[in-house]
Amino acid sequence: MNIYDIIEKKKHGLTLKDEEIKYVVKDFTNDIIPDYQMAALLMAIYFNGLDVSETYTLTEAMIESGDKIDLSKIDGKKVDKHSTGGVGDTTTLVLGPMVASLGVPFAKMSGRGLGHTGGTLDKLESIPGMHIDLSTEELINNTNEIKIAIAGQTSNITPADKKLYALRDTTATVDNISLITSSILSKKFAMGADSLVLDVKVGSGAFMKDIESAEELSKMMIDVSKKFNRHTKILITSMEEPLGYAIGNALEVIEAIETLKGNGPKDLYELCLKLGSKLLIMNGKCLSEDEAVILLEQNIKNGLALEKFIELVEKQGGDSSYIKNPSNFILSETKIEVISDYTGYVKSIDALLIGEVARDLGAGRLTKDTVLDLGAGIVLNKKIDDKVKKGDLLATFYTNKDDEVSAAIKNIKSAYQIGEKNKDPYKFIYKEIE
Ligand code: URA
Ligand code: CA
Repeated sequence: MNIYDIIEKKKHGLTLKDEEIKYVVKDFTNDIIPDYQMAALLMAIYFNGLDVSETYTLTEAMIESGDKIDLSKIDGKKVDKHSTGGVGDTTTLVLGPMVASLGVPFAKMSGRGLGHTGGTLDKLESIPGMHIDLSTEELINNTNEIKIAIAGQTSNITPADKKLYALRDTTATVDNISLITSSILSKKFAMGADSLVLDVKVGSGAFMKDIESAEELSKMMIDVSKKFNRHTKILITSMEEPLGYAIGNALEVIEAIETLKGNGPKDLYELCLKLGSKLLIMNGKCLSEDEAVILLEQNIKNGLALEKFIELVEKQGGDSSYIKNPSNFILSETKIEVISDYTGYVKSIDALLIGEVARDLGAGRLTKDTVLDLGAGIVLNKKIDDKVKKGDLLATFYTNKDDEVSAAIKNIKSAYQIGEKNKDPYKFIYKEIE
């Protein structure tokens, strides 16, 4: 077998054999196949695709490239949630405590933010003292004791994905359905997930720009999961605006606390109820979504979900006085209000651009080595369908980088599309696929 013949084969749209896919992943991970040949193969895959069976084999080969984590010692049926990458997506910090407060085990390994998307680990680290470098044993024990643990990925999981993703990122081959499927599912399955709800984002701030390609991606994720005998459900949700109001690390923790108190943004809360009800059904806790929503709302109203978040923070060494008194969080020093130049209705808010502005203000990373300013970010004041008058407050932002202020004002203004009222009210959960 040689890489040249495999590139030639995929260039002509032929189906690759299992052993060819396994050979490519193994030798690329071991630095035997060089980047330029792998890049050519990725582009051939981008244009000619991989079928379900090839995508399954690619996913399996990527899992086998590194360690697998055994979470079978967690009592009961654990559940997990993953999103394909959003802006201001605070879901995990709300959803985890909600389901765990009902006794459903939520053991999550999360990532850090890169580019315009934020990462749960960075958000958690804005709580002083919080540590996320749990060993597998701690992850298991904490989940058994208090039903929830959120940790970083410690060991050598899917090194093939790390190398491939870095190459895809620089060769314009990220947004391919089979490559996204194998990248996400290999990580999830290597980390021991069995029941998974995937939030597939669609829109300007997402990899999938239209609903048809999001559906195609969803179908591939479900078909490949089935071949692994895993249960995956999909929600397709819109990224025509950022989720909730807050974008930035401490700001999003504050937003999560408010949501757990029942005072959060409507879209974030609605998404958590929807994802949560699916997780409760997959766990066997509930038979119907209606029943699940009643239980989830109950634990918001009686404060048990917020208490569970406090328990999680204390268990992982964090200072829970910040959760009890969110005004303890220290935000970046410069606070700027962005005012509307127009009168009308908000038609959309470019999530990609808002994510990039938040990054430049200090909330996100341009490279892996960027040091974050956890108090930086943006709080939107107007969302899609809101009425705006000239002079109204659109958004407030926080930063310690004063040389970014004027660009941020200009970009936040241009992210807002203001015009006539949208014909139909904004529908943010597009579709459910099981
Ligand atoms: N997230 C991932 O982990 N991988 C992809 O390919 C896309 C989004
Ligand atoms: Ca948010």
